[in-house]
Amino acid sequence: MIVRKPSDLPDHDPDFLPDDAVIAIDGPAGSGKSTTAKDLAERYGLLYIDTGAMYRALTWAAREAGADLDDGPALAAMLSDAELTLRPGRRQVAVHWNGRDVSTAIRAPEVDGDVSRVAAHAEVRADMVRRQQQLGRSGGVVMEGRDIGSVVFPLAHTKIHLSASLEARADRRLRQYRQQGKDVDRAALTADLAARDKLDSEREAGPLLISPDAIIVDSSELNLEDQNEACARACLVNAVADRALDSDLDTARREIPWHYRLAYGVFRALARFYGLREVGNAGRALPRGVVAAVNHVSLWDPPLVGATFHRFRIHTLAKRELFRPDFPLGRIFRMVDAIPIRRRGYDRTAFAAAARGIEAGNNLLIFPEGTRRAIGHPGPVKNGLGILVQATRAPMLPIFIRGSYGRHPGGSQLSPLEVWYGPVIRWHALDALLEDLDPKEASRRIAHVCESAFRELQERSFAATPQTDFERELGEQQLKRFARRQAKVFGTSEKAPAKG
Ligand code: DC
Repeated sequence: MIVRKPSDLPDHDPDFLPDDAVIAIDGPAGSGKSTTAKDLAERYGLLYIDTGAMYRALTWAAREAGADLDDGPALAAMLSDAELTLRPGRRQVAVHWNGRDVSTAIRAPEVDGDVSRVAAHAEVRADMVRRQQQLGRSGGVVMEGRDIGSVVFPLAHTKIHLSASLEARADRRLRQYRQQGKDVDRAALTADLAARDKLDSEREAGPLLISPDAIIVDSSELNLEDQNEACARACLVNAVADRALDSDLDTARREIPWHYRLAYGVFRALARFYGLREVGNAGRALPRGVVAAVNHVSLWDPPLVGATFHRFRIHTLAKRELFRPDFPLGRIFRMVDAIPIRRRGYDRTAFAAAARGIEAGNNLLIFPEGTRRAIGHPGPVKNGLGILVQATRAPMLPIFIRGSYGRHPGGSQLSPLEVWYGPVIRWHALDALLEDLDPKEASRRIAHVCESAFRELQERSFAATPQTDFERELGEQQLKRFARRQAKVFGTSEKAPAKG
């Protein structure tokens, strides 16, 4: 869906937005992100962070120093030594570079012309992303840029992709310059915007892409007030859907058939025995028909994750080999509607059965990486997830499991056993994306959302309990071993797991 006017979305109580929400606004230059982000900050009492200003400040400093704008490592070194601060002010964010107020200087047309070049360097982006994550870590922020929803905060409460036609954006920029008393040629400005769009969306590192879970707001035909109102309503879409989740917990419990109660009981006893810690468990408030996407490190993952579910039937896609008669857990898997899947190629029958289950309102537990991955190195996610999501539009619940490999009963300091729940992710932009993307590319974007969610949940887990040497070394060993095994299971086309 593309939001073109405020009335495309219902109006709700602004108090629905959680206090610690992160609102990510991405979009091309001149789409009105800053104005709207400031408005949202005021409406919802959030801190406004303009990440473009950070790239602009570095560009300004590099020009001042006469640095080579194509030398990524040199620019990154300059940035890492610098003190770069953003202070929200009444009309705009005050930007200081090493104590000097550069708020006005960074808006000059010369900086405009060079900033995309500077922002394209992966080394520069890595540092900027780290700074931005620090700024928004505790939530309650609205952050605007190009890669906020895709890289900086992949689990943002709301992702808005704010766009407008090239002509509309050129008109707005022209007005801004005129207000500053600068005379700029319209044709040149339009060409410059188009060139920046191209650079921003085609670069390797953190390109501007529409994330399938973003809400697209097209402001081409909107005045400022309506643009702000449309975005303000967009901020409540997930909040309203999340609030609806809790409603029928008792009914859901009563609805669970006896064999599920038995299986969940066995799994929970197992989890207790191994000292499993659950964090952010939305399992109590699962929507119906959700795809629970779990990273995979051990054969114990399905029952351990199952131990954190408290309601509804859950179908699982599990490798065919687990259903051997001599494998004791296989019987339990069958009892809880596990669907055997052939891992080589695309198992049409298994995915069709999974889609039917989702459409009937059941949940589905899948391991979208397709096989076990080295601990500490989740991903890459295979295309099956995207195919399933495209077939069903089912929302995704990302779940990160840590420490299930090589466990010693009763818990271990060496590898803490944890299950982390992310938020429910809804595919607001998918239909619009499929109008010009081929399904394979759409699946890649869905996979990217899932990979980023795993990485983000892993980072949160490591921030709470630092990764141990044992986990690190085991992960390195597994990386090598699994690369060989994956080649055997999937053929040799498998790419190496993406690094964080
Ligand atoms: O939003 P803006 O025009 O102030 O952004 C300036 C430039 O910085 C823009 O060309 C793209 C880049 N940028 C980026 O690459 N990533 C961000 N998160 C924000 C801005």
